Amino acid sequence: MTQRFSVRHRLAVMAAASACFMSSAYAQPAADALHQRANAATCANCHGTEGRTTSGSAIPSLAGMPKDYMVLQMKAFKEGTRPATVMHQLTKGYTDAQIDSIATYYASLKR
Ligand code: HEC
Repeated sequence: MTQRFSVRHRLAVMAAASACFMSSAYAQPAADALHQRANAATCANCHGTEGRTTSGSAIPSLAGMPKDYMVLQMKAFKEGTRPATVMHQLTKGYTDAQIDSIATYYASLKR
């Protein structure tokens, strides 16, 4: 009996909490920031954690790269106007809005 009450109680609390989260004015920016970081994290395998490659790496660091420069390069890779070994394939998976968001994220990081 106590057990059932506490489970139900917990469910009610969870429902209330999620309803509160959904209607919160802060929910959308938080979700956007998560998406932004998740997209940017897919670059880490090659460009390093937080976009910093080790010195001497053939792959450029992304941290602190000016946003406009990155957007231009990403679109050039995507359209095939900048030759590449990997990036022309990879950029095809991103919308312009996602590229913009990723570039904003990396531009905000310190070199
Ligand atoms: C599989 C490895 C790999 C992944 C993953 C990867 N890159 Fe790259 N990136 C490269 C390589 C290699 C180059 C050099 C160009 C080429 O040969 O494709 C490059 C070049 C670039 C450049 C050009 C840098 C300059 O100085 O002009 C940018 C910008 C870039 N990558 C952004 C990204 C972003 C943003 C992501 C994540 C969405 C990403 N890359 C994911 C391997 C990768």
